[in-house]
Amino acid sequence: MALADFLANLDSLADEAQARFTAAVDAAALEEARVAFLGAKAGKLRQSQKGLGKVPPADKPAAGKRFNEVKTLVEAAFEGAQARLTSGETSSGEAFDVTLPGKARRIGHLHPITQTIRSMKEIMGRLGFTAVEGPEIEDEWHNFEALNIPLVHPARDPLDNFYLGGENAAAEAASPLLLRSQTSTVQIRVMESTPPPVRIISLGRVYRPDTADATHYPMFHQIEGLLVDRGVTMADLKSVLRLFCQSYFGGDNEVHIRFRPSFFPFTEPSVEVDMNWQGGWMEMGGAGMVDPNVLRAVGYDPEEVTGFAFGLGVERVCMRQHGITDIRAIYQNDVRFLEQF
Ligand code: DAH
Repeated sequence: MALADFLANLDSLADEAQARFTAAVDAAALEEARVAFLGAKAGKLRQSQKGLGKVPPADKPAAGKRFNEVKTLVEAAFEGAQARLTSGETSSGEAFDVTLPGKARRIGHLHPITQTIRSMKEIMGRLGFTAVEGPEIEDEWHNFEALNIPLVHPARDPLDNFYLGGENAAAEAASPLLLRSQTSTVQIRVMESTPPPVRIISLGRVYRPDTADATHYPMFHQIEGLLVDRGVTMADLKSVLRLFCQSYFGGDNEVHIRFRPSFFPFTEPSVEVDMNWQGGWMEMGGAGMVDPNVLRAVGYDPEEVTGFAFGLGVERVCMRQHGITDIRAIYQNDVRFLEQF
C-alpha cells in the first residue's frame, strides 16, 4: 500500500471517529462507536494497523508516526465523549437539541464621549484640520505663560488647578507641573514645533478641581481648534464654526452662530460662541483671534500671520445631542445608561 493511501485512510478514519464520538447520545451509542474504532479485534484502528505492514519499508517510520497520532486522537475523542456523557450534559436517551437558540452575547460599543470625539474629528478633518494630541501633564509655560496668562492671574491659583505634588507645589517648586486645565496648551506645543501655516484640532481631557454636580466634573473633554496663516480673519472663524455646527447638529435645519464679546488672555478679540438650538441659543464655548503675545511667545511674527482659535466642551455637545441632563451619568459607567447610545 502506498504511503499516501495509508495516510488518507488514517485521516478519514480520524474524522469519522471524531464525528461518531461527538454524536454519541448515550452509553450504548458510545460503546458501539468504541467497538467500531477502538475494538481490539475488528476495530478500524486495528484494521489500519494491519495496513501498516504493507507500506514500503522506507515509508514505515512516517506511517507509524501518523498512526500513533491518530490513535491518540481517537482515544481522546472517546474519553471526551465518555466524560461528557457521565457529567450528565446530555442525559441518556435525550438528544441535545441543536435547534435551541444560542446564548446571545452582549455586544459592546463605543462610549458616547468617544463617539462624539470621533465624529468631531471626522467633521473637522473634512474642513482640513489635522487632529493632534498633547500631554495631560503640563508645565506652567504651556498651560499659562505662553498663553498670555500672567503669574498673578487668578486662573493660576493652586486651588483652581490640579498641581502635582499638592496645593503648595505651585509656590514651592521651581517648575511645577499640573494636570492641564485646558487644551489650549496644545496650540503652544504645535506652534513651537511647526512654522505657520497651522490648521489643527486637539481633543482630550482637561482637569479642574470642581465639585461634581449636574454640569461640572473634575475631568472633562475639550475640542481645541487653531488656524494660523496669512490674512486669517474673524469671518473665517465664524464660517468654520458654522460649518462644524451645521455638520454636527444641523441636519436639514440651517445653523446660525452668534458671537458675544468676552475675554480670554490668549485671544483678542475674544468671543463666546452660541448656536441656535431648539428655538434658543446654546453655548458652545470660547473663541477669538490669537493674541499677538501668544504668536510672539512661540516665535511667530504677528505682523506676518494671524490666526483664530476656539475651545468647545465635548461633554456639553454630547449631552445636548442626546438629551443627557447630568454630566455625572457619563462617567458612572452604568451599563443601563451607556447601552442607550
Ligand atoms: N481655553 C478656554 C477654556 O478652557 C476655552 C477657549 C477660549 C479656547 C477661547 C480657545 C479660545 O482656543 O480661543 O475656557
